[in-house]
Amino acid sequence: MVNVAILGYGTVGSGVYEVITTNNKLINKKAGEDVSIKYVLDLRDFPGDPVEKVLVHDFNVILEDPSVKVVVEVMGGVEPAYTFAKKSLLAGKSVCTSNKELVANKGPELIRIAKENKVNFLFEASCGGGIPIIRPLNSSLTADDIIEISGILNGTTNYILTKMTDEGWDFDTALKKAQELGYAERNPEADVLGYDACRKIAILSSLAYGKTVGYEDIHTEGITSVTYEDIEYAKKMGYAIKLIASSEKKDGKIYAMVAPMLVRRDHPLCSINGVFNAIFVRGNMLGDAMFYGSGAGKLPTASAVAGDVVDAVRHVGKNIMVFWDEEKEDLQDIGDFKHQFFVRVKGDKDTVKEKAEKLFSVTGYTDAGIDNETGFVTEIMKEDDFEKAYAQLEGAVAKLRIKD
Ligand code: HSE
Repeated sequence: MVNVAILGYGTVGSGVYEVITTNNKLINKKAGEDVSIKYVLDLRDFPGDPVEKVLVHDFNVILEDPSVKVVVEVMGGVEPAYTFAKKSLLAGKSVCTSNKELVANKGPELIRIAKENKVNFLFEASCGGGIPIIRPLNSSLTADDIIEISGILNGTTNYILTKMTDEGWDFDTALKKAQELGYAERNPEADVLGYDACRKIAILSSLAYGKTVGYEDIHTEGITSVTYEDIEYAKKMGYAIKLIASSEKKDGKIYAMVAPMLVRRDHPLCSINGVFNAIFVRGNMLGDAMFYGSGAGKLPTASAVAGDVVDAVRHVGKNIMVFWDEEKEDLQDIGDFKHQFFVRVKGDKDTVKEKAEKLFSVTGYTDAGIDNETGFVTEIMKEDDFEKAYAQLEGAVAKLRIKD
């Protein structure tokens, strides 16, 4: 018998409790041991909930119980999650977490502490909700030089953009619904400003390249500036607007960013809708692979955490190697990135053509039926060069990058 403690009985914590109790027989068989939830830690009481019989309010009860071999941390935020995770690992307990803030901030240190103590720090649910992506990167794609990871890594923003595009919902209605469905972060700014996707691409890039990619070094833009008019242009041109988190290795240099982009209709990421996430991986030997599934929500996320619990139980006393060094990776400056850009400008096509072609190499123009406005697309150019030219463009309304 292996005893498990769950820290936090919120959306994900109650989901982990549900997954482990509902699928208990199957989980026991797959783990090779009986898995039992001995404690759930939460500051709150839950009168009438079956969790009551295992509920505790003091973390030390868990820490000081040697029969607890696996601690599930699903509280969110860096503190007290970091302190509890570190103390658990030092006490010889494996930690399984869905907490991307914890992993992005303290991942390499906790991985090292786990190794030193012959336990495991597992974090499959921190990226892509229920989609297996951490384990494939760490255990399956080990013979490849990973040269690109790009994806839709935030379910809330993908849900919002999908509803704005397909149903004509406004931003606030779509966000409210995503919150009701349990997709959004407690502070929705983390979703809509791109911070959540940024932490996830930092984690995936660190695992892919082996050194720490700092989330604070990644250029990040959210979706709050995306308008109904942008979506109309996108539709007219055969694109969808998606929040893309990407990381590429070119000539040994790493380029990482998070931003809303126009994705062409035949790109595999274009058809990822609603709360679904997808992660596109390109390896120098593998070629392309894509991982797709439910990117947020109680049970998909809890399923990934419970899968980590099974792995931790299978490996009691043995550390699973994780290829993620504490040394920092240098990232390229955003100004050096190259893209095609889409630009909206005030004026009819003739007026815009005259202004645009003095500053840009233009590949085409679009009229989306927006009053006194024309859109155009540039050739591939460096961000720095684009920004200089855009600053001089009289009547410029908006700009978006185009995913290559
Ligand atoms: N708020 C996150 C999302 C939850 O929408 O993707 C899953 O990490």
